[in-house]
Amino acid sequence: MTPQPVRVGIIGAGLMGRELAAAIGRWVALQDHPVHPELVAVCDASPEALRWFDRVASVTHKTTDYRHLLEDDSVDVLYIAVPHHLHERLYLDAVAAGKDFLGEKPFGIDLAAAERIVAAIEAQGVFVRCSSEMPFFPGAQFAYEAIASGALGDVVDVQHDFLHSSDLDRSKPINWKRQAKYCGEIGVMGDLGMHVAHVPLRVGWRPRQVFAALSDLVTERPDPQTGEPVPCDTIDNATLYCEAGFPLTLRTFRIAPGHMNTWRITATGMDGGVSFSTAEPKTVHRFAIRDGRQVWERSEVGSQSAFPTITGPIFEFGFADAILQMWASFLAERAGELGDRFGCATPSEALDSHRIFAAALQSHRTHSAAPV
Ligand SMILES: NC(=O)c1ccc[n+]([C@@H]2O[C@H](COP(=O)([O-])OP(=O)(O)OC[C@H]3O[C@@H](n4cnc5c(N)ncnc54)[C@H](O)[C@@H]3O)[C@@H](O)[C@H]2O)c1
Repeated sequence: MTPQPVRVGIIGAGLMGRELAAAIGRWVALQDHPVHPELVAVCDASPEALRWFDRVASVTHKTTDYRHLLEDDSVDVLYIAVPHHLHERLYLDAVAAGKDFLGEKPFGIDLAAAERIVAAIEAQGVFVRCSSEMPFFPGAQFAYEAIASGALGDVVDVQHDFLHSSDLDRSKPINWKRQAKYCGEIGVMGDLGMHVAHVPLRVGWRPRQVFAALSDLVTERPDPQTGEPVPCDTIDNATLYCEAGFPLTLRTFRIAPGHMNTWRITATGMDGGVSFSTAEPKTVHRFAIRDGRQVWERSEVGSQSAFPTITGPIFEFGFADAILQMWASFLAERAGELGDRFGCATPSEALDSHRIFAAALQSHRTHSAAPV
């Protein structure tokens, strides 16, 4: 079957916009994918950010005004990866223009913005998904399948974390991600929360109430131009103790000494358990009761995820592979070819994640558990 051509445009040519360009450049690594994407257009408010895309020969349209991409009929699909305070305006405009897109999390700066975005998507009927790539690690897929199959039995306890140490250095200059007016009052939950909400929401674990421990550890950072201290007013670390019929603990940390992009999940039940961490990307642990003994066994899962690649199955999987898999999933689902493979986070899952974050803020304010 000839793959369906899809012309892609990027709005927001920063860290993540460049990751998509690299993923499309590696598309040949996918075996028999139903879609053939081509990156044709890029928008960024900064001409310097646009210049990076000079190296991508297929890009024929560069602009500093995102409305040019919305009006461009030669663009089929958009990736929107801009600061959080711009999500609502750009997502609503993309929906109104009838463009399908993969939008970066957290789908708006707060719950009210998420509600407006998701209502518009549903009314217009465009195909939209929310970025969340970590569940495409093969060990995460293994864990998801073990959980979704019901093999754990009655769930006893789930701990799910996304841990960075990117802000351990107090001298790191401030950027938009560390200022509430651009990143949102939800702080680190806007950055990392969707990553720990995706699998729980997909398997139907719905927190009914949340008790949150939120910390703003670093309250000032140097201004990048002057070096003078300026307020750093976002939550650095969030621990959400959720009641979901069992204890579900979701932790998102910008300051987790010893960790670097560690996404991990440990779920135990009366009949089994599973544990995976990107700190050990090839390895997954499974709990079982054998001959009356409690056994945690270790399996090597190698490189293969939802969409087969040419990469040898014994090799390791990494962040860039997860981005490639997420895009393979997004474009396959848009083409009606996802089958029973793992799908990207949906707008309603993005909205539900915001409901959890809003309850966490309420819990923080009232020092008590808040309903979701
Ligand atoms: N999925 C992930 O793993 C992951 C990782 C990092 C960031 N993100 C998300 O991606 C989004 C962007 O983050 P980033 O790290 O790429 O940020 P970034 O600061 O590196 O890039 C954002 C870009 O948006 C551009 N921009 C700002 N205003 C614009 C406008 N009006 N029109 C067009 N471009 C504009 C900026 O010039 C900048 O180049 C955020 O939503 C963030 O949460 C996701």
